[in-house]
Amino acid sequence: MNSISELAQLIAVDVYRQRRARVLAALRKRGGGIAFIRTAPEVMRNRDTDYPYRHDSYFYFLTGFDEPEAALVLNASARDGDAASILFCREKNAERETWEGFRFGPEAACTAFGFDAAFAIDALDTDMPHLIADQPAMHYALGTSAELDERVRGWLDDVRSRSRTGVRTPGEARHLLPLIDEMRLVKDEHELSIMRRAASISAEAHRRAMRTTLPGMREYEIEAELLYTFRRHGAQAPAYGSIVAAGANACVLHYPAGNAIARDGDLILIDAACELDGYASDITRTYPASGRFTPAQRELYDIVLAAQYAAVDATRAGVSFDAPHQAAVKVLSQGLLDTGILDKTKFGGVDDVIAERAYARFYMHRTGHWLGMDVHDAGDYREADGPLDEQGARPWRTLAEGNVFTIEPGLYVRAAEDVPERYRDIGIRIEDDAVVTANGCELITREVPVDADEIEALMRESRRDPS
Ligand code: GLY
Ligand code: MN
Ligand code: MN
Repeated sequence: MNSISELAQLIAVDVYRQRRARVLAALRKRGGGIAFIRTAPEVMRNRDTDYPYRHDSYFYFLTGFDEPEAALVLNASARDGDAASILFCREKNAERETWEGFRFGPEAACTAFGFDAAFAIDALDTDMPHLIADQPAMHYALGTSAELDERVRGWLDDVRSRSRTGVRTPGEARHLLPLIDEMRLVKDEHELSIMRRAASISAEAHRRAMRTTLPGMREYEIEAELLYTFRRHGAQAPAYGSIVAAGANACVLHYPAGNAIARDGDLILIDAACELDGYASDITRTYPASGRFTPAQRELYDIVLAAQYAAVDATRAGVSFDAPHQAAVKVLSQGLLDTGILDKTKFGGVDDVIAERAYARFYMHRTGHWLGMDVHDAGDYREADGPLDEQGARPWRTLAEGNVFTIEPGLYVRAAEDVPERYRDIGIRIEDDAVVTANGCELITREVPVDADEIEALMRESRRDPS
């Protein structure tokens, strides 16, 4: 067992303390008040068995504390000497710890995680009315849970019932999460170093999948190679349900790994990656079960890869979030015309394909999403204000250094009479994770090959030397 000060080192306590200080400073600028944020509940899977516990990302972002039954209170109106940063958590309990393992308890958690004060979670409903009394505003995840709204109303009612003693009830309830979303959108060095490690583990898992795949294997056997690699390197869990799709299954966007057999001549699309220390990675690779792309598969693969390079080239701080998507759509649309998947005679050129969204039959998702603690991470994709476009939408956000998002173009050619036969039932996606920099982006997931020749070379070598 580590000492409390050793634990504080491991926890990077200053990182979380500084984030709380930023929230407090922002709330002071808005006139002060109390912020409340709690972690995720434990969820029963069946009878007396819970789903594996996963903390709430917002709560963890501000605390680094991953026990269930915990809440954070920030007092932006605290005067000198008052506690501004308060944790509520489970008390020590020798009996429960015998069955479930170590819990910090308020006293040790207060020291190890750098709070000003900590109390038992059982005291929350008693203490909150006192903490919010005489405060100008209450900031919390407003409107995200009927149960939470009701609980906050109960605290407000409690204060109101004592109004004759002279206490004032907060006059305002405000949504807290958009403020934290903005902070989460720009990753700090602490976050980037974890995300690079998560990316590296996931890349190794994809390499292992490529090396071990043989025609005749079932999707779940390939999934097992991925899960093995995640855990072997200390990742706590997959960041999302693994997609391992053989053959035509690759055209189903959210296909979970099933028991279909990967046959000689099939492509296998794997969209799978780990979560490490609270941070997600997100990788997709598509490769041939046999180790060799067919000519038709290779044609489409190279179009998707060219689209990804175009999106990567369009990524840097200062450009619109939409720029990489538009760059990818242009290359994919041209590819659909060149292959005859879209009938050239029906379009004036690539601009027509884009204007009519004809590509969307074969490319129906966007090219990326924010990535961080959540695989589809927090944060608005649009500016807070600005002129509305024809669809009534605000302008796309401008990319900033430290934003992290995925670049994941694809083509999904389901069998249909008007599609050339050689391309039918081919689904391809290539997905990497990009950190935005001043002049471009850093792809943190490229430890797994992406070029078709390199994928074939890796698969060839592993068959020669299956160690
Ligand atoms: N793996 C989820 C996604 O790519 O969005
Ligand atoms: Mn993704
Ligand atoms: Mn993905």
